[in-house]
Amino acid sequence: MPAKVRDVLKALVDITGGRVVICTEDLFSGRNPFVVMKSSNIPGKSVMEIPGLVFGDLEAKVNKIAVVMTLTESCIELAAATGVDLIVAHHPVADAANSGGVTLKNYLGLYGISIIELHEAFHGLHPGISYIHGHRAFRVDIKYGGIPGNILYVGKVLEGIKTLGDILDRLNKMMDMEREMKFSECERILYGCSDISDSVTAVQGEILVGTPETRVSTVLHIFPHTGFTPEHLEMAKKEHPEADTVLATISRSRKDSDLVAKAKELGLSFICGNCHSMEIFENGLPLAYAIKSYLPEDIKIVIFREKITSIPVEHIGSSSIKEYAAYIAENYLIRKRGDEG
Ligand SMILES: [Fe+2]
Ligand SMILES: [Fe+2]
Repeated sequence: MPAKVRDVLKALVDITGGRVVICTEDLFSGRNPFVVMKSSNIPGKSVMEIPGLVFGDLEAKVNKIAVVMTLTESCIELAAATGVDLIVAHHPVADAANSGGVTLKNYLGLYGISIIELHEAFHGLHPGISYIHGHRAFRVDIKYGGIPGNILYVGKVLEGIKTLGDILDRLNKMMDMEREMKFSECERILYGCSDISDSVTAVQGEILVGTPETRVSTVLHIFPHTGFTPEHLEMAKKEHPEADTVLATISRSRKDSDLVAKAKELGLSFICGNCHSMEIFENGLPLAYAIKSYLPEDIKIVIFREKITSIPVEHIGSSSIKEYAAYIAENYLIRKRGDEG
C-alpha cells in the first residue's frame, strides 16, 4: 500500500517535535524559528529555509523515497530513473541552484517528484556527531561567544577511547574507509591515472597536533566554518581547563592556521574528524531509518550518496569526447589573437 506525502510530513512533525512547517502562515508569522534566511548579502543569492514540503502535493502517492544531503540535477535524474517519487533533502533547496539551472516546478513537475527539506530543524535532535567521534558532550553551546550558529561541544571520551589514534580508528571503521579506499583505487586503475581523488577519501580524519599515541580525555569539539576563532578557543580552554584536545569536524582548519597555532600554544592536541561529505552518514542515515519506521513496510527508502571525483582534464572521457572538447574549444570558444574587435 503506498503512503502519501502527507504521511511522511506527519512523520517528520513527530520526529522533529513539531518543527516542520505545515501551513503557509508558518512561513511569514515568525513563529517557526526554523524558517530562516541564509544570506551572505550577495544580491539575489539568499535562500529561505523551509522545513517541510517545498514542492509537490500532500495527496501524492509515495512508493519510494530518496534521502539526500544536497539536491542537484543528478539527484533529480536518478530519482526519475529509479522510481523515486519523494526526495527528502537535508540542505535547503532553491530554484535553479538545486535543479540544474531551471525552475524546480518545471523539472520536478515533469517527473512528478515531490521535495521535502529538513535542515536546521533536524540539527540538534540527536548526539550523533559526538558519538561518531567517540565522545559524549556534557555542554552544547549553539552560539558560542554570542555568535548564533558558532557551535561548541565539550565532551568526555567514551569508554575504550584513550588516544587520538583510537578516535581515528573508530572513525575509519564507522565510515567504512577500507572499502572506500579500495573503491578509489579501482577508479584510478580504470582511468590509468594516479592523480584522481574523491570527496570521500581525500578528506579523512587527521591529527594536526599530537600523535596517534597522544592521550585524550576532554574534547573541545568545534566546527571551524561556523566562525570559531582563536579567541574563542582561548576562552573555551579557560572555561574548561581540563580540556586536552580540539576536535574539528564537518569543516577543518589548515595546519598553518591561527586556530591550530593557538591550540599548540594552549597545550591542546588538534584532530580533524569527518568532513561535510560524510554528513549523509551522520544525519541522512538516521533520518532515513526514522522515516522508515513510520511508514508501511513496502515503501522503499534509498540514500543518494554524494561522491565528487576530481580527475585531471587530460584523463577524463573517451577519446572521441576528448576530440570533441578540443574541436569545440578551438573552433567556437577560443578567440584567436587578431580576431578581437
Ligand atoms: Fe547538517
Ligand atoms: Fe550540512
